Amino acid sequence: MTLPFMDTAPHPRGARIAPRFAHEGIAFGCDYNPEQWSRETWREDMALMREAGVDLVAINIFGWAEIQRPDGSFDFTRLDEVVALLHESGIRINLGTGTSSPPPWLTTRHPEILPVVADGTTRYPGGRQAWCPSSPVFRAAALEVVEAVAQRYGDHDAVELWHVSNELGCHNVHCHCDVSAAAFRVWLERRYGTIDGLNAAWGTAFWSQRYTDWNEILTPRLTLSTRNPSQLLDYRRFSSDALLEYYRAEAAIIRRHSAKPITTNFMVTAHIDGMDYATWASDMDVIANDHYLDHRLPDPHGELSFAADLVRGLAGGAPWLLMEHSTGAVNWQPVNPAKAPGQMMRDTLVHVARGADAACFFQWRASLQGSEKYHSALLPHAGTDTAQWREVRELGTVIGALGEVQGSRVVADAAVLFSWPSWWATDAENSPSSAVGYLDQVHAAHRALRDAGITADVVDPERDLRGYRLIVVPGLHVVTDAAAERLREAVASGAHTLVTFFSGIVDEHDRVRPGGYPAPWRELLGVRVVEFTPTLPDAALTLASGAGARLWAERVVAVDAEIVDRFADGPARGLPALTRRAGEGGAGDAWYLATLLDGGDYTRLVSRIAEAAGLAPEAGAGRDVEVVRRKADDGTTWRFVINHGTEGVDIVVRGTDLVAGVSVDGATTIPGGTVGIFREERA
Ligand code: GAL
Repeated sequence: MTLPFMDTAPHPRGARIAPRFAHEGIAFGCDYNPEQWSRETWREDMALMREAGVDLVAINIFGWAEIQRPDGSFDFTRLDEVVALLHESGIRINLGTGTSSPPPWLTTRHPEILPVVADGTTRYPGGRQAWCPSSPVFRAAALEVVEAVAQRYGDHDAVELWHVSNELGCHNVHCHCDVSAAAFRVWLERRYGTIDGLNAAWGTAFWSQRYTDWNEILTPRLTLSTRNPSQLLDYRRFSSDALLEYYRAEAAIIRRHSAKPITTNFMVTAHIDGMDYATWASDMDVIANDHYLDHRLPDPHGELSFAADLVRGLAGGAPWLLMEHSTGAVNWQPVNPAKAPGQMMRDTLVHVARGADAACFFQWRASLQGSEKYHSALLPHAGTDTAQWREVRELGTVIGALGEVQGSRVVADAAVLFSWPSWWATDAENSPSSAVGYLDQVHAAHRALRDAGITADVVDPERDLRGYRLIVVPGLHVVTDAAAERLREAVASGAHTLVTFFSGIVDEHDRVRPGGYPAPWRELLGVRVVEFTPTLPDAALTLASGAGARLWAERVVAVDAEIVDRFADGPARGLPALTRRAGEGGAGDAWYLATLLDGGDYTRLVSRIAEAAGLAPEAGAGRDVEVVRRKADDGTTWRFVINHGTEGVDIVVRGTDLVAGVSVDGATTIPGGTVGIFREERA
């Protein structure tokens, strides 16, 4: 049995070099599940897709049971027909490999592929994605399907893009079966070489956890007490890597049969944290993301903008594809609000403004059966005589008018640092305050920038940060030596930075860096934090300036920094809450914030730092209005103004309004609830 990570040879990338995704204009598309419908319906679908302007359709996403029989043979009759219909209709295909969910005949024959959760119990078929990422049996069966699909359609003219599996790790990222445990050991042996290396990395001197043999190591199943945090962190890395390796196995097969670009749909969103996409990104020919507004969050739209900026960060600033979002309600939150009139247009265009070159939806036609029958779709149950359908057609027209924007890049001079290991470690068991969530910190920082009219890339801390004028580092708990250095060199080269509490505390093994926090940046910031004093979630804090804060205070010593503000109350009363170490010799200023500022105060702070960094806020931007620019290689710029509010917003622009198709010269108003997209006249 060959487990993942045993085969250490690089995966063959094939002789063919995949071209970049090259759709004409901004793609407008959807998932299409023709398995659920009759041939007559397919014909109606083609006509309606054309009517709506749909030009990129993802098929065969859950196709396995449709195309393979229990005896192993394939029957592509229906898929061939769908491919031909789409082709005749001039609709490009985003072709799924079909392996997302194994058919019941496979799980009946091979129950060993079923995933096991942390309490040691099995999760059964009947839903979806019931497979263990490390299972060689599942992999062999799935790769047979990929081979057959890639061979059959690899050169088909209508196929524009390959869609590996679906949302890898949405449900099954953490498997605790014996096969996963064995694969975890292989992964650990590759990482640490010796058992002593592992013992040192995991700090197993604590609680008598010392290992003497690899076989003693398990995945972190549920325990009586809390678990070893370093083990948990490595298990999360392993789990992400196991699925990435699975992706590579599918991609290698496709590559043998097809020169088309390959991707899979990421889930950069607040409720999925299983995959470290920073380690996945370079394997994708184009980055694709699925995003749904999450009404369980206090600020769903803030999260939408954040996610789009993070996806762009993963793409290295290049355009990316919005592979799924919704026209209206989803079906998987406790309460699933519909979108208000005009909201779909605004939400979709936020993604486009922030770098998406495709706006696709789940799904084409609302299902009549299955778990997702109450999920919205482009074509609702009520049919075409509906406001939803009219809005879909209107959106299709607007996207059609934006073709020239395709390929351009978002203009951003600020960055917010984000890392999955920091998310995992901050939100783990036994932290100073379970009320401090990593994403809350990051979202608050991003929201402050957005409200201040500053567009930011959300980027991995280990990448080269030189060139940004402002870098915000919210609660970046895990900081590797490389990441510590990247920020130092960016500040030395002139970037201003704002680092917030609970940053730079541990190294990549979740081992505390001693000597006063945040150890890797003490000199940079000129501060030394000697004790955390988190506050109860409903306790308000006040700073000497009158600014409001909450959640966290700490005892900060300003060693070599100006004290800009102090705690006026709470456990750190009188001590520094905000400091600034002025940059010298061309370096930027380094600010440290020891608490979580309330929204308006946070925005005022980042505005102040941005101004010192020489960043001009986008005119008209604010709490309800997003203003973002995209720029082409030839210097052409487009300004997107998305007004989520009810009041009109006035801006000054010279150029062409792409939505209305008219020229604009001077003051113009974007009415509440609408969007303005302007090609700007060049000076
Ligand atoms: C995604 C998935 C789709 C559909 C959608 C519903 O997670 O890829 O198949 O389930 O969510 O919101």
